[in-house]
Order: sequence, then C-alpha cells, then structure tokens
Amino acid sequence: MAEQISFEPPRGMRDFYPADMVWRTRVFDAFRAAGEAAGFEPYDACVVESYELLARKAGEEVGEQIYHFNDKSDRHLALRAEMTPTLARMVAQRQGTLAFPIKWTTIAQCFRYERMTKGRKREHYQWNCDIVGEESVLAEVEVLGAACDALRRMGLTNADFRVHVSNRALLSELLAASGIPADLHAQVFLALDKRGKMPDEEIAAMLRDGGVDEAGVKATFAIMDLKTLDEAEQLAGAGSPAVANLRELFRLAELAGFADCLVFDISVIRGLSYYTGIVFECFDTQREFRAIFGGGRYDNLLTTIGGRPTPAVGLGFGDVVVGELLRSLGLADSTARPDLVCIGYLQPEQRAAATRLAARLRAEGRAVDLRLRAQKAKAFFAHAGERGTHAVYLGPDDLARGTARLKDLATREETEIPLA
Ligand code: HAM
Repeated sequence: MAEQISFEPPRGMRDFYPADMVWRTRVFDAFRAAGEAAGFEPYDACVVESYELLARKAGEEVGEQIYHFNDKSDRHLALRAEMTPTLARMVAQRQGTLAFPIKWTTIAQCFRYERMTKGRKREHYQWNCDIVGEESVLAEVEVLGAACDALRRMGLTNADFRVHVSNRALLSELLAASGIPADLHAQVFLALDKRGKMPDEEIAAMLRDGGVDEAGVKATFAIMDLKTLDEAEQLAGAGSPAVANLRELFRLAELAGFADCLVFDISVIRGLSYYTGIVFECFDTQREFRAIFGGGRYDNLLTTIGGRPTPAVGLGFGDVVVGELLRSLGLADSTARPDLVCIGYLQPEQRAAATRLAARLRAEGRAVDLRLRAQKAKAFFAHAGERGTHAVYLGPDDLARGTARLKDLATREETEIPLA
C-alpha cells in the first residue's frame, strides 16, 4: 500500500475550497473594481524572481523570510515576498519607453516564512496599486482613495477602519532637530517599527546598539509621544516641508471625499527600508487585527536597483486580514447569487436532449450546470436549490411534448421552452 501522505497543505499555506472562494472572490472583485475605477492598469509577473533582486540589507525582517532555492542550473532564485522589487525591475527595464507617471495594479501571491500569528500566513495574496514617476502628493491621495474605495466595496464603512498616516521625512526632521545624525535614521526607523511587537526597553537597547546616545534615545521616545501634526510642527519648526506635505495630503483627501478615514499618527514607520516620505497603515477601528494595508512613498528604489531616479508611491493590501475582518463583521458571504441554470433528467433516455439544451442555453450566454447522471426529482431539486437560480428537469413526458419547463427557483415561476 502507498505511504499515507498528509492531506493538510504545508504549514502557513492555504487551500481554497469552493466555499472559501465566496469571500475571496468578494475581496478580489473589490480590489479589481477599485483599481479600475481609479484608472490603474493591470500588470503581472512570475512568482519566481532572482534572489539578488529580493535580498535585503540586514535588519529588514522580510529579508530573513524569503523562500529561496537553487535551480538545476544553480541559479539562485526566490519566491517573491512582495511585489515592489519586481515592479521596480519591470519599470527599470522599460524606463526609456514608458509614459510616466504610470499607474499600475496587480493581485500578487506572495510568500514569506513568517512566524504564524493571527493575520499572518506564509502565503498571501496582495493587491498592489503603485504610481511611478510622480512627485506630487496627489499620487498618495489617488492610491489611498483607491484603497478606501475597495474597503467600501467590500461592505465596510468609515466607522470600521482608519488609515494612520505619517511621513518618514518628518520623523527625520524631528530626529535631526533632537541631535540624532542623519546616517542613524534608517536604523532608528527599523527599531521604532518594532514598537508594540517588543518591549520599549529592547527598542531602547537596539537604538543604543545602533549608535544613538542616551539623550537621543529619550528624545526618540518623546517624538513617538507626539499626538498631533501641530505638536510635530512645533518641534520641527515652522516651514517644515514634511509637515506641509502632510497638510496638503489631508487637504486633497478632503476634496477627494475620504479625509474622515485618515488620522495623523507619528508611530507609523513601516518595516521596509525603501520608504522615503509619506507612509501609511490601515487598521480596523477596534484595533483587533493587524494592518489591513500599508504603503508609502519610495523615491529611491529605482536607483537602488540601477535604474534612473524616479519617484514612486504605492500600497500593498493583503487578503488575509481583511478576510478575517469581513468574517468578524458578518460581511464575508456573497449577497448576490450569479445566474446558473441546473439541468437534470429522470432517466438516461433524456440525457441527449439535456445535453443539447445545455449547449443551446450556453450558446445564448447562460451559465449551465448539466447534471452528469440521471437523478430522482428530489435529489435533483435539492442540488439545484443549493447551487442554481433556475432549473430544468426533463422526463419522458417532456420529450414526448417537445418542450421543457424552466423554473425560476426564487419566484417558483415556470416558463415553457422548446427542446428542438
Ligand atoms: P507590507 O506591509 O509588508 O508592504 O505588506 C502589505 C500588506 O500585505 C500588509 O498590510 C498585509 O495586509 C499583507 N501581508 C504582508 N505579509 C503578510 C503575511 N505574511 N500574511 C498575510 N498578509 C500579509 C509591502 O509588502 C509593500 N511592498 C507594499 C507596497 C507596495 N509599498 C509600495 N508599494
């Protein structure tokens, strides 16, 4: 006998049975519709990348989570952990011919060897919307507006989520004003991103290890306690470009109709080191779940991989957390059942007529589930009630008459249709 293998998928990977596809389709449909409504063009790429493109500087968590392997020709390859390096590579490859700014969107399956917690899997789908080649903060507003639109299309309201917004350039200004030299800021960002995930004492130790002196550590924590943009402005000084940038973002979001969804939050840092300006993370208002989506401005990534300097901004919005949130709010079920005609028959003698009818209805553009075997009426209608919106059940009398009855399962109304 064959050795029994596990029927479970590998740890952290998911199967999607038809019942699971209900919420997933709802989420993906909202992603696609919101991307399209905001004028983003779809793109795609292979899940496998060269490891070299994805490898990270020390300190970035995602660098340690990459699934990588050598192929039979000894190429060092990896499964993408996020789409952004691939997007940067694709843009760099056609930098001379693309008409900037470009607005691109995709739903990409990503792999990270994560410690498994609520909201974190080792594989997830991530909706990305990026605008490459635009310096103006209207790019951030367009990306954020699309994300808020997707949440609303899933059935969520403004009361259910908040997008927390900050600016790494502002944090840099504040750190510099507190005497922390610019070359330490990248380390400080990575340490501060761990806040909430580890005790402040350990973060302070990370800062000291990174070369921040005692006064600097104290100042850093004081900055993290700032509550409003006005407070931040007082510390940064009037005329701070980073504050002006944030104020413009809030002003444009007001005009775009989603300013209510935004809050200033200095503690949003982001765990990826390529961000250079505005950064954001969306959370459920109860703060029960991990981040629903995150993103920001990354003006230097193109040059880091050898492309020409090109400003960029974008977001990644995973399916896992929002799926959990929708289920917790009772919004995961589909409301509309797509049109489907189930065709069944009592005896093998009616099978040919059923097959012909199915072909005809499909040619007319209807979706048809043709039963593969003859069934008793009770069993057929039980199935049709589960799956379909309409049913046709053929017996010898229908063939003799040359007509069938198409039944609307919701209204119970019947329409005679010819079999010929
Ligand atoms: P990220 O914050 O690493 O950003 O991921 C973005 C989103 O993907 C998260 O907010 C979460 O919804 C989802 N996500 C990430 N890791 C997992 C996981 N292990 N399990 C489930 N969901 C996960 C990025 O990846 C950036 N590349 C986003 C971006 C695009 N920035 C600019 N453009």
